[in-house]
Amino acid sequence: MARVGIYGATGYTGFELIKLLVRHPEVEIAFATARSAAGQRLSDVFPTMLDTPLVAVEAADLHAVDLIFTCLPHGTSELIPLVQTALEAGKRVIDFSDTFRLTDPDDYARRRGKPHPAPELQSAAVYGLPELHRAQIRQAHLVANTGCYPLSAILPLWPLEQAGLIADRTVIVDSKSGVSGAGRSLGMKTHFGETHETFSAYSVGRTHRHLGEMEQETGLHIIFSPHLLPVYRGILSTIYVTLQPGTTLAQARAAYTVFADEPFIKLLPEGRLPELRHVQQTMFLALGLQPVEIDVGRYIIVAALDNLLKGASGQAVQNMNLMLGFAETMGL
Ligand SMILES: NC(=O)c1ccc[n+]([C@@H]2O[C@H](COP(=O)([O-])OP(=O)(O)OC[C@H]3O[C@@H](n4cnc5c(N)ncnc54)[C@H](OP(=O)(O)O)[C@@H]3O)[C@@H](O)[C@H]2O)c1
Repeated sequence: MARVGIYGATGYTGFELIKLLVRHPEVEIAFATARSAAGQRLSDVFPTMLDTPLVAVEAADLHAVDLIFTCLPHGTSELIPLVQTALEAGKRVIDFSDTFRLTDPDDYARRRGKPHPAPELQSAAVYGLPELHRAQIRQAHLVANTGCYPLSAILPLWPLEQAGLIADRTVIVDSKSGVSGAGRSLGMKTHFGETHETFSAYSVGRTHRHLGEMEQETGLHIIFSPHLLPVYRGILSTIYVTLQPGTTLAQARAAYTVFADEPFIKLLPEGRLPELRHVQQTMFLALGLQPVEIDVGRYIIVAALDNLLKGASGQAVQNMNLMLGFAETMGL
């Protein structure tokens, strides 16, 4: 059995990760950390869960594990020293935050307005999108799990780009996410009274933090408009793309044969578009392709996924399986 540790186990992604790992046949949880609930048990926070003690970050025994998951908010001051220490101790790391997702130092500095705080870790990190970087993830010691919004844009666009079908380099990605995407800590914009029976856009255009990884992985120029849906989980992205004039639906759909053997990507039959309820609580990214004006190449792609599973913790288990040499879909 491989032994793993989870930092930030009481958050939304931490909780989903634990639900997956307790059913994984080749893994056991050696420790779980919390901040406010340190000293309690996991079952004190989530009554149906294990009695695993929750320890503070500094009390976690790194030597007891083969791999750690860091499910901490981006910008957590403990994160970089923790990842550094784990790698020096020969442990493998899957980080959920966006700290290590941008692979080019100049791109990072340009987008964030300052150099990366740990350039040696940035250069060691592999972007954790199995469908695109499977071979590198297998060898990696530090994997930067893909963001949930970026996943909903990169996977639909990448096959069309690879096939040379995208004519207009500027693509519009219009995304809607459930509130769990913002994490469990209390915030004015995400509590029930602020989100129930309303609907809003935020960080529109070119301002969202995760635009960079979408552009890094697709090579496209993206206009991105995220929205907050009054539901708990799921992301649905509507993508407006202009292909080569005259591209038929059959030609556009054929680009996705590169994903034919992917266990978690479902190109829906012609005429079908995915809904959140098709993917909630599943590992699937579901895609629907709709021609709008074939003569000028205009298409709409609708992509849906569960932000906590394929968009976070399920994807992390997929990456862990690759890194530890297990079947990629084990426990999923
Ligand atoms: N939510 C999603 O859909 C999603 C999808 C993809 C990626 N991610 C990324 O995954 C990471 C975790 O997200 P989340 O939604 O699970 O966040 P969350 O619900 O806010 O949970 C964060 C966890 O980290 C702990 N924590 C917070 N600050 C800490 C600190 N300074 N020291 C030690 N522990 C600390 C929290 O403990 P307390 O509860 O005690 O504060 C909690 O256990 C983030 O980087 C996020 O961007 C999230």
